[in-house]
Amino acid sequence: MSVAKPLPHDAAKLHVTGAARYVDDIPTPRDCLHLAFGLSTVAHGDITALDLDPVRAAPDVVAVLEACDLPFANDVSPSAHDEPLLATGSVHYLGQPLFLVVATSHRAARVAARLAQVAYAEKPALLTVEAALAANSRFEDGPRIWSRGDADMALAKAPRRLTGTFDIGGQEHFYLEGQAALALPQEDGGMHVHSSTQHPTEIQHKVAEAIGLPMHSVRVKTRRMGGGFGGKESQGNALAVACAVAAGLTGRACKMRYDRDDDMVITGKRHAFSVTYDVGFDDSGRVMAVDFTHLVNCGWAMDLSLPVADRAMLHSDNAYWLEHFRVTSHRLKTNLQSATAYRGFGGPQGMLAIERVMDHVAHDLGLDPVILRRRNYYLDPDSGADMETEKAGAASDSMEGGSAPRPAASPRSISEKMKGRLTPYGMEVRDFELNGITERLLTSADYGRRRAEIADWNAGQSHLRRGLGFSPVKFGISFTLTHLNQAGALVHVYQDGSIHLNHGGTEMGQGLFQKVAQVAAHRFGVPLDAIKITATDTGKVPNTSATAASSGSDLNGMAVKAACDSIRDRMAAHLAAEHQVSAATVVFEGGHVQVAGEEMSFAEAAMRCYTARVSLSATGFYKTPSLEWDRIKGEGRPFFYFAYGAALSEVVVDRLTGEYRILRADILHDAGASLNPALDIGQVEGGYVQGAGWLTTEELVWDDRGRLRTHAPSTYKIPAASDAPEVFNVALWDGQNREDTIYRSKAVGEPPFMLGISAYLGLSDAVAAFGDGRYPALDAPATPEEVWRAITRVTGAV
Ligand code: MTE
Ligand code: MOS
Repeated sequence: MSVAKPLPHDAAKLHVTGAARYVDDIPTPRDCLHLAFGLSTVAHGDITALDLDPVRAAPDVVAVLEACDLPFANDVSPSAHDEPLLATGSVHYLGQPLFLVVATSHRAARVAARLAQVAYAEKPALLTVEAALAANSRFEDGPRIWSRGDADMALAKAPRRLTGTFDIGGQEHFYLEGQAALALPQEDGGMHVHSSTQHPTEIQHKVAEAIGLPMHSVRVKTRRMGGGFGGKESQGNALAVACAVAAGLTGRACKMRYDRDDDMVITGKRHAFSVTYDVGFDDSGRVMAVDFTHLVNCGWAMDLSLPVADRAMLHSDNAYWLEHFRVTSHRLKTNLQSATAYRGFGGPQGMLAIERVMDHVAHDLGLDPVILRRRNYYLDPDSGADMETEKAGAASDSMEGGSAPRPAASPRSISEKMKGRLTPYGMEVRDFELNGITERLLTSADYGRRRAEIADWNAGQSHLRRGLGFSPVKFGISFTLTHLNQAGALVHVYQDGSIHLNHGGTEMGQGLFQKVAQVAAHRFGVPLDAIKITATDTGKVPNTSATAASSGSDLNGMAVKAACDSIRDRMAAHLAAEHQVSAATVVFEGGHVQVAGEEMSFAEAAMRCYTARVSLSATGFYKTPSLEWDRIKGEGRPFFYFAYGAALSEVVVDRLTGEYRILRADILHDAGASLNPALDIGQVEGGYVQGAGWLTTEELVWDDRGRLRTHAPSTYKIPAASDAPEVFNVALWDGQNREDTIYRSKAVGEPPFMLGISAYLGLSDAVAAFGDGRYPALDAPATPEEVWRAITRVTGAV
């Protein structure tokens, strides 16, 4: 049995010895050229003069390309065709690529790129969401609004009401391997591209358009990334297209990799949000209505901002039944890097907002924040005896009318038995695990005793306070763009019994290849070393989706299972016929095949099938069932299921400096029936630390000219190993997916990121403990400076 085993990452040894090959490690042909972009030095304006002669004259420069030199499409956008590879007359953020330098070395290209003489007619730059909103600078015609019930009426009638506004910062991906691509020209204009990308098919598509050939003439390979985190869903397009165009024009191999500073200045980051909330509740803490407004800083181009902002709206309920609900989302266009996918894809921002609301309500009532949260949880699926499955009114409503604007409040009737079970977008929560998870976590983390102890400890301190933060996670699994929920695989069994495995997913450190190889080994009943994991390759599996939305193992695991089963069934049918028994009696196990009492090695079985002319190669395909989603109305079943988790973080804060430590984190996370508990725990630990980093020390600072001032690790602070909690108890919830996923596992890539919200809530709790009872205003990231400011606000000591 190779599934469910805590096996190490297949490339762990290669990673730690430095032998793992990334794009920049691939041996290049002798005459390989190197590329660099010349970048805009203003945030917004028209180019009035562009003198590239000094660049052309620089040593070792082979060519310099401007937009007008591009042979075909000048477009690297993954969505709205609003993102040229090279600027055409105007610039929209500081760092935007203007021209491309092709030189004989990486250094020569970078040095030359600085020599251009550029003049601009500068225009006012929109750098904040407030400025963009005032200028009505946005994507889509107006805000997107989804609602249920009558939020205005319920807010007006609620016995208690609170409002608030807070800012949520963006986040740099800080993958260890920066963006990189290598293009190798082929005969007849064809192009092979190695790209550090989560989305090889998109690279293939954009490169084909840029060199004017059908997709069949472009082949893209990705063996692995040194981290992607969403930052390589679309942001690798520019490098791959630049390399392919330059390779096409020069006939030589071309490579491009961003230096770290360039990477941070050029590429998009997590979307920053400003959130306003208005919440109505009763004296018991039952939330009756919430109204959210999201101001989303999308940057200059559309990229993936619409689905990111949608996912933020879709996670505005998190774990809570919110009967009257409205969320208004403004997707604002600013003169900053184009914000992009980042682990959680908007979910974290939406979820942080409702968690902040829950905390505020608990504080207002003087109620324990965990008790308050549990009062508002969705109902257990097993509660309420004769529950039958009932679809939300959503499904039938969504048939009529396309994108017609709908009234702000659409009272949708909810039957009594569906109350407490339907998300605001009308999907039934059938697998709510959080009651059980919360109960078990509170016990294992000794919550009650530690609450009391911390209160005592705080009372005895002058300038230190401890705080506890609890946050649950309910994260929807599936791409909200329904057609992306498909995957393919290609499996070959060779005559010696060794197995070549390929699928459309990409490996970025998350362990997808290992998990999928475990599935393949299990299907054939062979040891893992019989399986050869190979690079993702658009020539082997076509039309793939990005490895994203945490769905890599769900989708590709199923596609690989289908491919393996096709071959196994053919082998079984042949061997059974030879022995005149039924195919169902053939057993593949322990590296052997048993047929009618005879046992042979898997290799021998493969050889027998080969000589009998049985095909030993198969493709597999999978599409997620049951999805149905109308994004204009915000109704339907966008997700196949939810993944759950909960975290409790304990922090200590120093009032004099605002500095803090995360002392302890306890986490219980739901990975269904885990395909590999070791890898899954790694995802949970890494996700928590990355999520906590987002909300604590990782601060992006732009100056008033729109220049990113935090463009290197010297100024941009990701968590170091020493910033992980001193006590870090991570366990997996022992359950299985109620939906029919690969071995009943659940996706685990993104959901644990949001467990880091508990660290922010812990800081808020500690800050409040310094004060006189006021709820602390605390923006994210809660850097030491921000924590210090928050303390001065609650103590009045300004
Ligand atoms: N883990 C590592 N080590 N490196 C990464 O780049 N990306 C995350 C998550 N975990 C990432 C990671 C993101 S954003 C996603 S969507 C998922 O992994 C993608 O992989 P999966 O679908 O196979 O979980
Ligand atoms: Mo992950 S943000 O879906 O690549």
